[in-house]
Amino acid sequence: MRITLGVTGGVAAYKSAELVRRLQQEGHSVQVVMTRAACEFVTPLTFAALSGQKVITDLFAKSSTGEANLESAIEHIAVAQRTDLLVVAPATADTLAKFARGLADDFLSTLYLASTAPVIVAPAMNVNMWQHAATQENLAVLKARGVHVVEPNAGYLACGMIGPGRLAELDEILRAVQGVAQAKRDLAGETLLVTAGPTCEDIDPVRYITNRSSGKMGYAVAEAGARRGAKVILITGPTALATPEGVERVDVRTAEEMLAAARKHFPACSLAIFAAAVADYRPAKPASSKIKRSKEALTIRLEPNTDILATLAKEKGERIVVGFAAETEQVAENARKKLAQKNADLVVANDVTAEGAGFDHDTNIVTLFSRDGRDLPLPRMSKAEVAERILDEAVRIRAVLRSKPATHRAGG
Ligand code: PMT
Repeated sequence: MRITLGVTGGVAAYKSAELVRRLQQEGHSVQVVMTRAACEFVTPLTFAALSGQKVITDLFAKSSTGEANLESAIEHIAVAQRTDLLVVAPATADTLAKFARGLADDFLSTLYLASTAPVIVAPAMNVNMWQHAATQENLAVLKARGVHVVEPNAGYLACGMIGPGRLAELDEILRAVQGVAQAKRDLAGETLLVTAGPTCEDIDPVRYITNRSSGKMGYAVAEAGARRGAKVILITGPTALATPEGVERVDVRTAEEMLAAARKHFPACSLAIFAAAVADYRPAKPASSKIKRSKEALTIRLEPNTDILATLAKEKGERIVVGFAAETEQVAENARKKLAQKNADLVVANDVTAEGAGFDHDTNIVTLFSRDGRDLPLPRMSKAEVAERILDEAVRIRAVLRSKPATHRAGG
């Protein structure tokens, strides 16, 4: 998981350095965010050296000329989007209060508001501060909101008092992290088939027809699926992307090759997500040698490619099948048509003309149209987060279907 570790200003801040190491040993990548007060206890350099990443300390980091830099002012959004889990250890009374009340006056509190990832806080403070009604009220608000609280232990505190307030043992914090990680292993035992990227349809040995798909959307789905425990087979057209960790990749070039690979792997999958931008047409007769330039107009006759999704979904049985709809107009209407025509359980519709959506962007704006009538419009978010929402919806549909008699899927 990509963990963002918030370190706030308390004596226990030095223990977070060891926490970075332990999280890394468990296979997580760690981005450290420190409050100004935390920097009084431990230097950012310590965390930078341990995490191997720049430590974020300031909402408005200044450039070398002393001007506030825009990039850093919006960095909390980027960090929020790539955070799978926010852990705050130690969490001071001040930070808990800010989180509970929605105050956002530094990088960490702003990140907390901007992120939709699960949150774990491990408070540490003086015993009276811990027991104060204000702190307990803030904790109750956070718990009600789903924040996991790793309660402090009792013992001698740095202030010389005895009682609860000492940062929980690192093992306890790590157990909470494992709990969150396992909660999202909801695809363990499943096989997920994903198609991604464009296809290339040859005109002659040097020219081809393709589209603008970068593969980012499909790869994000494959990556999220693997993280959630699925065995993932990614059938991909040509892209510049690295294979996500734990994913079996099958490279194809044309729609026909993608169809063949999908046919081969579809029987073994329990969930199939068709995110590829498959060319609808291919040159009927690709030339075997380079077409020579001439003064005459050139006509290339195109013939339709097989619809991979529609073909395979006819025989989907108990599988959950998810299609995409790349639209430029009448998005909802066209998406609902595709849902029915292609016998999908879920269609992810994106208006590919919208700013920050569709081809080659790192973000997307989608609406999820489910067979069971639920339409879920989502705001602009990273493709990684869209991928999580698609998987959440697929898991929900699977649970609904499993609760019904088996006959309902006959004929799609
Ligand atoms: O790759 P990115 O740069 O990240 O861009 C993401 C994306 C815009 C490609 C993605 O979000 C998306 O919309 N993918 C589907 C693109 C598409 O081909 O849409 P469509 O509406 O033409 O097709 C509908 C569905 O049928 C899709 O699931 C498609 O994979 C499938 N299809 C289409 C044609 C075909 N011959 N076989 C298919 O399986």
